[in-house]
Amino acid sequence: MLLAPSILAADLADLKSAVDLCERGGADLVHFDVMDGCFVPNLTFGAPVARALAGHTDLPLDVHLMVAEPDRLLDDFLAAGARWVSIHWEVATHLDRSLHRIREAGARAGVVLNPATPVEVLTDILPEADFVLLMSVNPGFAGQPFLPYVVDKARRLRGEIERRGLAVQIAMDGGIGLDNIRRVVKAGVEVCIAGSAVFGAADPAERMRELRRRAETEVA
Ligand code: DX5
Ligand code: ZN
Repeated sequence: MLLAPSILAADLADLKSAVDLCERGGADLVHFDVMDGCFVPNLTFGAPVARALAGHTDLPLDVHLMVAEPDRLLDDFLAAGARWVSIHWEVATHLDRSLHRIREAGARAGVVLNPATPVEVLTDILPEADFVLLMSVNPGFAGQPFLPYVVDKARRLRGEIERRGLAVQIAMDGGIGLDNIRRVVKAGVEVCIAGSAVFGAADPAERMRELRRRAETEVA
């Protein structure tokens, strides 16, 4: 399991420390939520912030583009040092082209699905993606409750990936915490993104380790 803390839920006045905490807690990626105030109501960070953080850590930056026109921003984020980049299926006009652009720049290319978008829309494009990010909340804000029906989407997608012998990884984002991370991983999710469960804790680095233990330990 790869753990990707979402710094959207950290102290936004001190993102440098948030990234340091990710390193101390043994995180695998730093999840970076880009919102444009159009695809989602909220407005967050741009490529200059990504560049500043990428220069501050060796952890790969996982850029989740919640924007209405992702193609306009791709090159900026790739040049800023994003190592994983995902775009929403719901707004991708030329998804195949966008995924190839990400891969050609040497980054891992991901497709994100909103909770209500069925995984079956990915049938043809699946081999062109490095990962699929399943939203387990409606995108826009940290701290929302987990939507349990998304677990079944992960199971179906995992079955399809295995049936076809693909190497696509499944990520999940939204409402993941100590109480559900094991269930999520058992459904076939390999990349767990967690915002408030990490940064809402008194000791975020310790919480990252606890999330990993829970994800990897069978409970009775
Ligand atoms: C939601 C963002 C998530 C969010 C996760 O739109 O994409 O990455 O920060 O935060 P939690 O884990 O608190 O739901
Ligand atoms: Zn996200």
